Amino acid sequence: MRIRKYKTVDNCECVKLITDSLGKSCGRLSKEHLSARIGSKPEDYSFCRWLVAVENKKIIGICGVYRTNSTPQGFWGIDWFAVDKKYRKKGVGKTLLLAITKGIKGKIFVWATKRAMKFYAKAGFKFLEPESDYLMVR
Ligand SMILES: CC(C)(COP(=O)(O)OP(=O)(O)OC[C@H]1O[C@@H](n2cnc3c(N)ncnc32)[C@H](O)[C@@H]1OP(=O)(O)O)[C@@H](O)C(=O)NCCC(=O)NCCS
Repeated sequence: MRIRKYKTVDNCECVKLITDSLGKSCGRLSKEHLSARIGSKPEDYSFCRWLVAVENKKIIGICGVYRTNSTPQGFWGIDWFAVDKKYRKKGVGKTLLLAITKGIKGKIFVWATKRAMKFYAKAGFKFLEPESDYLMVR
């Protein structure tokens, strides 16, 4: 498996991966985000980038990081994170997360899906407040 930067030509493959993993509405949104944010900075985003995991020329995972100008201020957010079903629980997600967060010194947050909470907990993320069920921070 190889980790490399996301390229515009990866859009279709990544959108399919996100649609299969997170549902159609996320697929639609990611299509827009993964196209629009390349080389441009939407108003609310001060920074964003993504990495992909590749095996035999096939994209098997994607993970991004971004910073917003709004809540939670100054934190780094985990963006579009999905691993192909066939390749889960083999360390791909862990490797992508490690690579995308390398060098980040500030706090990192994620709006965790219910099924990914244990994964994030293992990676050192904690719920920000007991009542904020989905927001996890490290
Ligand atoms: C969350 C996701 C990206 C994790 O990717 P992955 O490649 O399966 O994760 P890894 O194999 O690197 O797992 C790392 C560790 O977390 C554990 N883990 C992963 N998924 C887990 C789960 N659902 N429940 C419990 N533990 C889990 C692994 O066992 C492993 O533990 P270890 O370090 O003790 O061996 C992947 O399950 C996925 O794509 N899910 C669907 C999309 C999604 O919910 N994305 C998150 C959006 S916020």
